[in-house]
Amino acid sequence: MRDVEALGTAAGFDLVRWRDPELPEGLQVLIAEAVASGVGWIADFPQVWHARPFLQAGEALFLARASGRPVAMAVISADPYAVAPLTGRLRYIYVGAEARSRGLLRVFVDAALDRAGSHWHRLRLHTDNPVAARLYESYGFRPSAYEDRSTHFLDLPRIFATEQERSINC
Ligand SMILES: CC(C)(COP(=O)(O)OP(=O)(O)OC[C@H]1O[C@@H](n2cnc3c(N)ncnc32)[C@H](O)[C@@H]1OP(=O)(O)O)[C@@H](O)C(=O)NCCC(=O)NCCS
Repeated sequence: MRDVEALGTAAGFDLVRWRDPELPEGLQVLIAEAVASGVGWIADFPQVWHARPFLQAGEALFLARASGRPVAMAVISADPYAVAPLTGRLRYIYVGAEARSRGLLRVFVDAALDRAGSHWHRLRLHTDNPVAARLYESYGFRPSAYEDRSTHFLDLPRIFATEQERSINC
């Protein structure tokens, strides 16, 4: 039995948080579709996941599925390029051709911010897609030329996680 958290339905698809170290059958098909359409940066996702699945606090792999088959994916994880601690990254976001323009990008960003937003001080991402950039900016992400390997960042209000932090900050 795979470790999967059901998050309900969105745009006619099942939305899940995938928590199993083994990736689902069918994800490679989605990734192959992406690579064939020119989205080359997604190709290393299986190796990156198998080296360290994104299962820590603040991290998640979200999948939208049709009859169990992944049709879209999105990741929030620790930002591997960040120097500052508690910097998260939205990455590996791909909506397959059959699932586009039904609001899934917004669903993924909502899920990432709802479930992981309070963990990070700052979220960063890189996009060269103007449609995606507009959507991120509608959440308050700001374009920046100065962030290393990122086009956008969002500073998050922090919920104090520990008694120690509370006493330091109050
Ligand atoms: C970019 C991408 C993720 C968008 O996914 P999607 O699920 O089709 O996007 P949504 O349906 O949630 O639409 C997002 C917004 O863009 C708008 N939009 C979608 N397609 C559009 C298009 N072709 N032209 C203009 N606006 C468009 C939508 O109206 C929506 O805005 P709204 O929520 O304010 O109404 C998808 O096209 C994709 O995977 N592209 C290739 C990989 C990529 O570029 N990933 C992003 C990397 S950060």
